[in-house]
Amino acid sequence: MARAKIALIGAGMIGGTLAHVAAREALGDVILFDIAEGTPQGKALDIFQASAVFGADVSLKGANDYADIAGADVCIVTAGVPRKPGMSRDDLIGINLKVMKAVGEGIAKHAPNAFVICITNPLDAMVWALQKFSGLPKEKVVGMAGVLDSARFAAFLAEKTGVSIQDIHAWTLGGHGDDMVPMVRHSTVGGLSLPDAVAAGFLTQDELDAIVKRTRGGGGEIVALLKTGSAFYAPAESAIAMAKSYLLDQKRVLPCAVWLSGEYGLSDLYVGVPALIGAGGVEKIVEFTTNDEEKAMFAKSVESVQGLIEACKVADASLA
Ligand code: LMR
Repeated sequence: MARAKIALIGAGMIGGTLAHVAAREALGDVILFDIAEGTPQGKALDIFQASAVFGADVSLKGANDYADIAGADVCIVTAGVPRKPGMSRDDLIGINLKVMKAVGEGIAKHAPNAFVICITNPLDAMVWALQKFSGLPKEKVVGMAGVLDSARFAAFLAEKTGVSIQDIHAWTLGGHGDDMVPMVRHSTVGGLSLPDAVAAGFLTQDELDAIVKRTRGGGGEIVALLKTGSAFYAPAESAIAMAKSYLLDQKRVLPCAVWLSGEYGLSDLYVGVPALIGAGGVEKIVEFTTNDEEKAMFAKSVESVQGLIEACKVADASLA
């Protein structure tokens, strides 16, 4: 069987980490693309040399020409700029929207059959724009956010309760902004819902409330620490989990920013909900039942995403 081709659009910190993890897991041959000359070539060569140590038979190539992504099975988009301390993800909309236009056109021309995972912020609006600019099928264009947000939620729960991360299942719903919705009733510690885990003494209600707050601000916490950019290890791992589910037809249910057409009573937008990812891309959207409080929080998060999508339409008339 031919090896898969994985195109990574953007060779910054996430792009480099993605190339490393994809090569190490022998997911396929890697093309690391960036408009900056030398950076993708240097990183690809470095990881290729490392592959002799970790022993994976993969090829890695740096590229500055979209023609090199031709025939890619998966494209993971990190191109654009990250935020710095004091900025919100939404502040990036103007600059990153222009980048999505170039990337969308490049993918449409050279890799129209790819499964596309967008990481660029503000995530839900950028994946919406990327789908519009590329014209690729909606079930083949998704945003990485929920996997990352849920991973943060799970990691904090494991740390606080002392329960193995393998026995924690955590979910977030909604946009990749500070008003995302950590799904307390639907997340579990050792099989117990979080309210039951509190009752059983795994953590206190105050500790749970603090974890919910910390999860919502998880990206900003790292931006404040790094000072020069944003998180890259966890975002890269999250996108790799999604790429693997597609490439290996694992049919994992992962929280991602997906196109909604009626699910959750919403349409014509991308927002984070659990989705089954297999060889067909997004094969099914899973609908949680929500209570009034969760519904209201989700509606607020959706409203923020819709506002950003409207801002994209104003900034680029071709999207309206
Ligand atoms: C994250 O959540 O780490 C990313 O969206 C980057 C950011 O700006 O927070």
